[in-house]
Amino acid sequence: MKHSAYVFDAYGTLFDVHAAVRRHAGEIGPDGQLLSDIWRAKQLEYSWTLSLMGEYRDFWELTERALDVAFARVPSADKALRQPLLDAYWKLDCYPEVPKVLKALKAGGARLAILSNGSPAMLESAVKNAALDTILDDIVSVDRIRRYKPHPDVYDMITTQWRLYPDAVSFQSSNRWDVAGASRFGFRTIWINRAGMPDEYPEQPAGLVLPSLEGVVTAG
Ligand code: LAC
Repeated sequence: MKHSAYVFDAYGTLFDVHAAVRRHAGEIGPDGQLLSDIWRAKQLEYSWTLSLMGEYRDFWELTERALDVAFARVPSADKALRQPLLDAYWKLDCYPEVPKVLKALKAGGARLAILSNGSPAMLESAVKNAALDTILDDIVSVDRIRRYKPHPDVYDMITTQWRLYPDAVSFQSSNRWDVAGASRFGFRTIWINRAGMPDEYPEQPAGLVLPSLEGVVTAG
């Protein structure tokens, strides 16, 4: 372990955003993955477009709006599943390696936090459900400053709160655009490329690319 502070993105990095749809896959039918992809893409799009307009609505509201649009675009999916899917979002599965990796980092003396677009209530619920609440030192939501990633003010919340220089922080995200924002801010970054996606944002490269969080403990 090489850093004193490890900061993690939440959705897609610790928690599987597609777990909600997967839990209801049988009822949704063949277009479940499409529904899930549109849901996630729209949720993120709204965070960026509202930000550019100088607006803010919390991530839960954006999550609800995004699901409504996903249902409108995927007519085969039964709208009766709206509430069960939203309920499932509060209890998303974490990826299997997450508890083990966080515990190992913690045992090495590192400080651990989540830095996420998620609302405080959403994050608290997901963390509790995955039994990560006793391992994490902090859960930091953009809601405090009402600005979404990748605005530099978001990453600055960590360095200000922990009184650290940015390069003392190892930041892990499976979202390449989030890694770009964190790299630009000055964090050391690890792109958790779970889906084997092509690289993007060449002007803001990731410090390291890993297929899961497994290698974070030994990474330099
Ligand atoms: C988050 C989203 C962007 O947790 O995945 O911040």
